[in-house]
Amino acid sequence: MFSQFVLMCVYLTHTCVSAHSLPPDKVVPFHIIKTRSIDLNNAYGLAMESRLDKVVEPTGYRLELEPYLEDGVFKGHVRINVTWLQESDEITVHSAHEIEITNSEVKAHIPADSLVSYRKDLQKIGVKRMSPDPKKPIVMLRLEKPVPAGSTGRLEFSFNGNLETGTTEAFFKTTYTTEQEVERMVAATQLRPNNARRMFPCFDEPGYKTPFELSVVRPRTMVALSNTPVARSEDITGEPNAVWDHFERTPPMSTFTLGLVIADLKQLGNSTIYKDDTGNEIELRVWGRPEFLQALEGVNEKLSRVFEEIATFWQVPLPLRRLDIVALPNYQGVKPADNWGLIVFKESDLSSRGYLQLAQELSYQWLGAFTTPAWWSDAHVNKALVGYLAAEIAFKINNGSEMEGKWPMTVLYSLYYEFSKRYPHSRITGMKQETACTKIELLFRMFNYTLGGDTFKRGLRKFIEDKRFKTFTGEDIWCSLSSAAVNDSKIPKEVSVKTIATSWIDKDRLPLISVKRNHDSNTAVLTQKVYLRERPHDVPDAARMLWWAPIVIARSDKLDFNDVAPIAWMKDRELKIPNMPGKDSFIIVNPEEIAPFPVNYEEENWNLLSAYLQSDKRVLIPELTRAKLLHDAWNLAYAGELSFATAFNMTLFLRQERHHLVWDPVFTMIDHIGRHICQCIHEKFQAYVRILLSPLYEELIKDVREDEENWRKNLRGLTKTFLCQAGYKPCIQEAQEQYSKWMQAKNPDEGNPISNQYICPVFKWGSQKEWEFGLQRVINFPPSRKQSERTYLLKTLAGCPVDEYKINRLLNITVLEGNGNFTETDIFLIFSMLTGGSQGYTTLFNFLSNNWDVLKEKFASKTNLWDNLITSATSQFTTQAGLDLVSNLYVAHQGEFGSAEHIIEKSMRNIREEAKWSAENLPVIEKWLDGYLAGSDVKDDQFIKN
Ligand SMILES: *[C@@H]1O[C@H](CO)[C@@H](O)[C@H](O)[C@H]1NC(C)=O
Ligand SMILES: *[C@@H]1O[C@H](CO)[C@@H](O)[C@H](O)[C@H]1NC(C)=O
Ligand SMILES: *[C@@H]1O[C@H](CO)[C@@H](O)[C@H](O)[C@H]1NC(C)=O
Ligand SMILES: *[C@@H]1O[C@H](CO)[C@@H](O)[C@H](O)[C@H]1NC(C)=O
Ligand SMILES: *[C@@H]1O[C@H](CO)[C@@H](O)[C@H](O)[C@H]1NC(C)=O
Repeated sequence: MFSQFVLMCVYLTHTCVSAHSLPPDKVVPFHIIKTRSIDLNNAYGLAMESRLDKVVEPTGYRLELEPYLEDGVFKGHVRINVTWLQESDEITVHSAHEIEITNSEVKAHIPADSLVSYRKDLQKIGVKRMSPDPKKPIVMLRLEKPVPAGSTGRLEFSFNGNLETGTTEAFFKTTYTTEQEVERMVAATQLRPNNARRMFPCFDEPGYKTPFELSVVRPRTMVALSNTPVARSEDITGEPNAVWDHFERTPPMSTFTLGLVIADLKQLGNSTIYKDDTGNEIELRVWGRPEFLQALEGVNEKLSRVFEEIATFWQVPLPLRRLDIVALPNYQGVKPADNWGLIVFKESDLSSRGYLQLAQELSYQWLGAFTTPAWWSDAHVNKALVGYLAAEIAFKINNGSEMEGKWPMTVLYSLYYEFSKRYPHSRITGMKQETACTKIELLFRMFNYTLGGDTFKRGLRKFIEDKRFKTFTGEDIWCSLSSAAVNDSKIPKEVSVKTIATSWIDKDRLPLISVKRNHDSNTAVLTQKVYLRERPHDVPDAARMLWWAPIVIARSDKLDFNDVAPIAWMKDRELKIPNMPGKDSFIIVNPEEIAPFPVNYEEENWNLLSAYLQSDKRVLIPELTRAKLLHDAWNLAYAGELSFATAFNMTLFLRQERHHLVWDPVFTMIDHIGRHICQCIHEKFQAYVRILLSPLYEELIKDVREDEENWRKNLRGLTKTFLCQAGYKPCIQEAQEQYSKWMQAKNPDEGNPISNQYICPVFKWGSQKEWEFGLQRVINFPPSRKQSERTYLLKTLAGCPVDEYKINRLLNITVLEGNGNFTETDIFLIFSMLTGGSQGYTTLFNFLSNNWDVLKEKFASKTNLWDNLITSATSQFTTQAGLDLVSNLYVAHQGEFGSAEHIIEKSMRNIREEAKWSAENLPVIEKWLDGYLAGSDVKDDQFIKN
């Protein structure tokens, strides 16, 4: 079909267009939707995409589109101005296989034979053959003769395509139903990241930035929006219901930033005119379907607020006269479509509270559209910078209430966990890119602190000045920051921002910096090494890893958390710092998590910190730093770098602490330690948890309001969950009372009348009868009900109890008796839930030992289940006693493990490692807990003990 050379009518004449148009009644609303910024997971696949041959480069597009919404098809014509970069008789362009090219033509100004001057007229160059690449969305035109380098000319294509209806990608349509039950259509585009080729033949790479002149046929009753305002609209002879909209020529831009929306839209209120100090103006408009405008109330104000912040940050005005923000009905994209000058949101995204997403999308207008990552491999730096700026701006506008004030804590802590694993990202590859991006976001934050906000801004402004209408690489950003920093004397001349950044980017690890103070000389020696939390700490290149770390120090003799200029950039293994305070003053290295690394101190400094945090002066240390001290101490103890007694000492201040940010990491830590310690000291640990949490909880339940902040709600919920788990009586009684309603229900299998939060406490602390009732509900679960409810019940039945009887009963029924109400998936789920606590996996282990022969036979042909059983039953032990159990089983059944032979061997290796940890730490933990519980004046009669 591609080689057909049916000469169609010349694209631009309107008579011709209408001749090919459908009858007017067929031209109904389209919906056009676009998608979003460069998606990262996608971007990494895209980085490998094959590039077009650089034979010609485009210098301008004239694109006409005629969508027929009802029929779901479109016709188009594109004329692409090009310049030949090299002599060739071949040209390749992007064009998806779904696009049917009905005609193609090439014209050029060719230099006359042996003359230097170029002929003035455009000369038609015959196309010998047009061949689509069978594997790639690329079409090759073979010309009759070679065209010399330096020639200019144009390519023309007429084409047909189908509007996408299954996804919201490329050029697509969707429908929605109004409150009056009228069905409406929307046509829209989502050309990111490389979908322009699914709408028209083009040079679909971000580096080709050219102006676009777009003309579109739309139904007269609908609105068409694109990157620029409509220059003029034009009637179509014989088609009273359709109109041509001719949009103004755009500034030079990449294909993927082209956008179009055709829908029944109305503008919300009036436009806002934003005028900057130098007199540049841009009109900001918000659009939605008429019924939805009410829900968008306030968006104009939000938009102008955020726009002002971002425009002020950049100072370089966008070369646009107008920016439209659209809430598009039935838009399915995960993220908004941020075309240049036209951002398309899901309705619920635009009407929601908060500023972060809007700030992100507006930032992409500068970083992404105005200047663009040169290739998809550079997209993550773009995303990171946008992410950082948007977070700062949203935070500033919203006074910290965005994300409950937890930025950057949440992302930072997950980096700490991921990068300190033995094998970072071993499970999910998509996560690797996300964490890499998060890390770079935090590096921008680090430079904002360490270079100072003014220098940081100057560097970025210079960057955007230099790169507008162009593309950039990550290197360009670092270089601009570097020049600004050197100019302002913010870093030593021999240091470059790029070198610093690279030392963090090039490895999936973070450093741990340890501080050793010398009070005779008032110095401190800092050493860096790779931070590893999971054992064994056997990373091959560990000895060679070094980071450029900014050393910022807060000290109690001159407490000042605003002074964040680094006193040094550490790049070697060791660094000596002079002029430290005397031995009665603490120091805090890396306050406010300026750079993403944990810090360890000697016991003395930790104890000074612990004492200070327990005093009223605690609040002089900002929350994020208080949280860091606590978080570092616990994790370093967990990593084996610090005594648990010191780490537990660092939690003493929590009885007075009320700030939710400081509490945030506590729950994760309780969970980690709770899982890791043996049954032998579990009860003491639970008593500690109860004493720690109950004052906070009792205060939080005094004051419950409808309109309270989210963080209060969440903190109360978490505290309650953890107290319940630790046996807090009022909570368990409440749960049992609620649960009894279900037990008394006439038809308990029709539905569960109680909230999920009550189930686990009842299964854990309640009677066998209560648990058995739950088991029967799973067995009798009607197929008509939502299966996720059954799964939740089964998970809690297996995962919550600490009572061996309940666990054995579940295993007897599901595994030994092979009750047909349970599937293999259920059994997998049960095994995996039992690994969550020592009672669970110990009982599973005993179950395995006691029923060895039966199980072996049962699972003879189910290798997956068998392997999973061996993993779940053996891998979680952490003590010498556990190692003995597993080793004895291994010896007793040597040669019988089959496929799981290597699994149990691996379990034993790991337990050996963990047992060392336990041998060192459990006695310390127990001793500290004993001392604490003995000294505690808290009544413990509010608790059930197990
Ligand atoms: C293409 O080139 C022609 C001739 O130079 C020019 O008139 C036209 O405006 C260009 N089109 C675009 C879209 O840049
Ligand atoms: C919009 O502008 C008009 C005229 O300038 C004014 O009368 C009207 O009150 C404005 N509407 C809103 C919602 O601000
Ligand atoms: C814990 O704190 C107490 C004082 O509250 C102190 O005596 C003890 O030495 C500290 N333990 C460690 C290991 O730092
Ligand atoms: C599970 O089965 C074993 C062996 O059949 C039996 O001895 C044990 O009592 C059962 N346990 C429970 C809780 O049902
Ligand atoms: C489900 O369990 C009930 C009660 O234990 C039993 O009677 C029934 O046979 C089981 N259903 C199947 C399909 O095994």
